Amino acid sequence: MFNKRTIYDAKIKNQTIIVRTDYNVPMENGVIVNDLRIRASLETLNFLIENGAKKIIVISHLGRPEGRDKTLSLRPVAKRLSELMPDANVSFVDDVSGPDVESAVRTLKKGDILVLENLRFFAGEEKNSDDFIREIIDCTGADLAVQDGFAVVHRAHASTSAIAREIPVVAGALLEKEISTLSEVMDNPRKPLTVVIGGSKVEDKQPMINNFLSIADNIVVGGKIAADGYVAEDPKIYVAEDFDEDSEGNKLDVGPLSSVKIADFVNKSETVIWNGVLGKVEDSAFSTSSTILAKLIGEKFGLTSVICGGDTTGFVENLVKDNPDLRYTLISTGGGAALEFLSGKSLPGIEALEDK
Ligand code: 3PG
Repeated sequence: MFNKRTIYDAKIKNQTIIVRTDYNVPMENGVIVNDLRIRASLETLNFLIENGAKKIIVISHLGRPEGRDKTLSLRPVAKRLSELMPDANVSFVDDVSGPDVESAVRTLKKGDILVLENLRFFAGEEKNSDDFIREIIDCTGADLAVQDGFAVVHRAHASTSAIAREIPVVAGALLEKEISTLSEVMDNPRKPLTVVIGGSKVEDKQPMINNFLSIADNIVVGGKIAADGYVAEDPKIYVAEDFDEDSEGNKLDVGPLSSVKIADFVNKSETVIWNGVLGKVEDSAFSTSSTILAKLIGEKFGLTSVICGGDTTGFVENLVKDNPDLRYTLISTGGGAALEFLSGKSLPGIEALEDK
């Protein structure tokens, strides 16, 4: 159960609202490679417009800059947002406070959206500084903040944590959907539940494996973790046992025998959570087992399915482009945030939300 206030409980009409999104999208040479996180923010923004918000100001980070870094400006993201919201007037200002922001906010009309520059250009964001966020609030005249950056709520930063000491913060539509779905599959899953874990860093995934030992019926380990010799310490854990190799003998994908076993677990399940690709998917020669798994999950009628982790969601999203009939309950926008939530940790950006 999601027991925090959301945009559906809050007064929206005639309010000036800061929306914290996670627009940390993959970019190559200034071009957005995957706009899932931008598209995922539209529901909240449209809701605020439809419900008569006075002014809407969007804040986000992008990458891990040290000071101002032109290559990590949110300008291209604002441009993409304006393409996705052709009926709204989306503008951008290359600062987060100061006279340019004040004048941009002053000219905002109902239904307009102003995107501010990358929060992480300023040290106060990651220092979780009250002064830093207060300046943004003062400059924009915000009455309310909406936390919709699910992918960043595991960080205790000014825009996720300190902000709640200044103005009320409620959850946006995306955050509410992500947390509700992830809570449901942890607290009250339709059984049997299979968790598939891949990826490369065992230290990142072990807490999630530990957390699901008492929740899941089966835990499948693939990816580099399995190839590196992961040892199962519980009979519930199945570790991939054969691998496709390159000419130098590097194990780069889960092999056919293990793929069949993984398929068997999925076929017997009512809920599947998948975090971490099973092979080196950027090389099509080693994406076979992940493709089989993604299709199996997306085609299984009535299955509750959660896809999470940056590489996995990117991979599945690309597959969906060519196979539009594939269906998933949730393709999470969260990488580290989803992993921490599924590991049972409490997340600062959720703690900061107003209670119901
Ligand atoms: C993410 O992509 O996981 C979030 O945007 C958080 O980014 P960070 O790991 O740089 O804090």
